[in-house]
Amino acid sequence: MTERLTIRRPDDWHVHLRDGAMLSAVARYTARQFARAIIMPNLSPPVTDVAAAAAYRDRILAALPAGSDFTPLMTCYLTDAADAQEIARGFETGVWAACKLYPANATTNSAHGVTDIRALGPVLETLQRIGMPLLIHGEVTDPEVDFFDREKVFIDRTLGHLVRDFPALKIVLEHITTAEAVDFVTAAGPTVAATITPQHLHLNRNALFAGGLQPHAFCLPVVKRERHRLAVRAAAVSGSAKFFLGTDTAPHVRERKEMACGCAGIFNAPYALESYLAVFEEEGALERFEGFASEHGARFYGLPLNEGTVTLERRAVTVPDLLGAGETAVVPFHAGQTLAWQLVD
Ligand code: NCD
Ligand code: ZN
Repeated sequence: MTERLTIRRPDDWHVHLRDGAMLSAVARYTARQFARAIIMPNLSPPVTDVAAAAAYRDRILAALPAGSDFTPLMTCYLTDAADAQEIARGFETGVWAACKLYPANATTNSAHGVTDIRALGPVLETLQRIGMPLLIHGEVTDPEVDFFDREKVFIDRTLGHLVRDFPALKIVLEHITTAEAVDFVTAAGPTVAATITPQHLHLNRNALFAGGLQPHAFCLPVVKRERHRLAVRAAAVSGSAKFFLGTDTAPHVRERKEMACGCAGIFNAPYALESYLAVFEEEGALERFEGFASEHGARFYGLPLNEGTVTLERRAVTVPDLLGAGETAVVPFHAGQTLAWQLVD
């Protein structure tokens, strides 16, 4: 039995760090596990211009523990008013690593998102030309569509056209949850990739209702049927360079989860590597973990691989029921459960 696993330092390609007290409380968890992370721009108000992104990056750096060498990679929140020149300037000056497309009202703080993707043509042309990745929350918001079909319908109605119209545009379909997404990304050319969260590897939709309504299993896109979970797991451990680690860690204070109309989002940052590693071990794919966690994403983004390594060892850890207090009290993913591996400091 493998007792220790050492891999190149990993990156997290999808993180919500929030702002203010929550940022101060959670930044250290991501910075402890990962060398770099793609930081989502869905603050209120959203991060739509270069100055706001640079200021947010400074707040993140200020929130890190002393001695941390963590690098936040900032993203631009696309709106209907997105300005191609501002975006290009932010990318070329190294402030932005990517653009994030939220269909309007698809998820937390997406009210300013895009209402008509086709109207973004000039922006997408620019991204394609300068090699700036487009990160997509791939769900329709059409109330006629069954909630569990939102991702599949987005692929059918929008993503296929987008990939055909912008064949050289780098697209990351974020936090994929369905067999249809796995199939689409697998069949597409090398410009299309996907991130995968730990919760979509561990949970199917039964988790939402097991023993009563379970708000801490609620995230967007919502967890799906078992056959979809199995397809996403197979993709993650396949070794394909199209699939890489993106936790979508999304902390909300406990009260905002455990209420009527509770928020979507799972806070998985504290034990993210441990959570993913459990899946790779169950799938007999420990030797493919490094590619998923530390190589595929950087190569897709065109960034250098990290120097240095991290080590995980087989040592059981019980995940706390609650982390933080007051306005930062958050229930972590796997709360109360025992995981078999631990990241060694
Ligand atoms: C995210 C959040 O809370 O910001 N929530 C979530 O369920 N994943 C937004 C998002 O990525 O959809
Ligand atoms: Zn997210």
